[in-house]
Amino acid sequence: MSDSQKDELMQKPISRREMLKLGAAGGVGLLLGAGGITGVLAGSGMINTAKSTTAQTNEEVVPFYGKHQQGIITPAQDFICLGAFDLTTSSREDVRKLFQKWTQAAAELSTGAGVGEESNNPNLPPVDTGEAMGLAATGITITFGVGPSLFDDRFGLAGKRPAALTDLPPFGGDELLPQWSGGDIAVQVCANDPQVAFHALRNLTRIARGKAVLRWVQDGFQRTRTADPSGSTPRNLLGFKDGTNNPNVQDADLANEVVWVQPDDGAGWLADGSFMIVRRIRMRIEVWDRTPLNEQEATFGRHRVSGAPLGETDEFATLDVEKKDEQGQPQIPVNSHVALAHMGGKVKIHRRGYSYSSGIDAKTGQLDAGLLFICFNRDPRKQFIPMQKALAGQDKLNEYIVHVGSAIFACLPGVQAGGYIGETLF
Ligand code: HEM
Repeated sequence: MSDSQKDELMQKPISRREMLKLGAAGGVGLLLGAGGITGVLAGSGMINTAKSTTAQTNEEVVPFYGKHQQGIITPAQDFICLGAFDLTTSSREDVRKLFQKWTQAAAELSTGAGVGEESNNPNLPPVDTGEAMGLAATGITITFGVGPSLFDDRFGLAGKRPAALTDLPPFGGDELLPQWSGGDIAVQVCANDPQVAFHALRNLTRIARGKAVLRWVQDGFQRTRTADPSGSTPRNLLGFKDGTNNPNVQDADLANEVVWVQPDDGAGWLADGSFMIVRRIRMRIEVWDRTPLNEQEATFGRHRVSGAPLGETDEFATLDVEKKDEQGQPQIPVNSHVALAHMGGKVKIHRRGYSYSSGIDAKTGQLDAGLLFICFNRDPRKQFIPMQKALAGQDKLNEYIVHVGSAIFACLPGVQAGGYIGETLF
């Protein structure tokens, strides 16, 4: 199998039955590690594209081992549980050991199993917390990233900080809150069942006790495959299809260009990893709900029902920001979200966000709901940052949203069985 064919298979979900068969044939980890099952995934949008969302069933297991970590170009599952940790140890060796333990646990969790060997010793707390017992893997993926703060003076890693792991600059309109920002380490858990996702983050947190504590956690969701078996593009909480024009990261060349850090990008240890940006973007839902339809459509530059660019009828029609209407005016307003985010077609990111709803805002009594924006890119200095600068300056959508949380992480390269996530760094 050629490298590009292997790439194309990377992280492609396989059924749990297949996984169990592989296990019986000599050890799942070893087979996966040998490169037998590596592979890619379909493009995903805010959530996901129409072409990709029906890929997994509850029984399916996304391979943990491989060239890249799972959960980056894996088609987005229905739920996310994203945790940012702060390290409480100042020992690099502790951090290394933590990643070793996390890798082992994540590999187990990825198959739908619990963590560790169950001892049934009545005098000890159970090793696994138990709430996912008997539940299917539901396509769970666990993805680890490290933030800029890991490279301060605590662990002697300053010299290894990638230049692209820059602190994000302030953007106009930001109202960032420390409780939703930053973190030494990110653990992104995605699954098609919220209890399966929660269980994984809880057990990984438990393993970290004494070495790292949670700084913030955000759950998120999109419509489930039960509600939409056809897997059409999900809608965000403003009612618009979100993810339509995401680059197709099933294309290995495009994924290398947009998502994966390349060996000569600057930090060799991060090759085959990716940069994850997280923005907790609160939506002013009540204001939006009083906004006329034509204004809503002009805000995004797309039609609400079909998702097509303004003036078109097909969701996937080419977005032509130069096109003029009969009056000679741009068909897609120049300050609309898509006109600006398109960046002349020259700058791309891979969006993989989720909606969130976290009760009510204590100050206003309104819903605290919005978009847990997540994107992956190869170099934020050339991709996310210029794009967000363009949006922060002029985007008509800014009347209806406010960025309240922000973080950047370098998602580590994948590993083969026997290795551990972070081995090239520590
Ligand atoms: C709450 C905030 C946001 C909402 C509700 C939102 C919603 C949307 C919607 C409905 C589309 C059109 C469908 C599609 O192609 O996916 C879109 C496109 C896009 N958005 Fe956003 N978005 C938000 C924030 C952001 C941010 C922060 C960025 C990056 C800095 C971004 C980057 C993009 C890109 C690159 C496109 C595709 C543009 C193209 O067609 O080339 N979005 N977004």
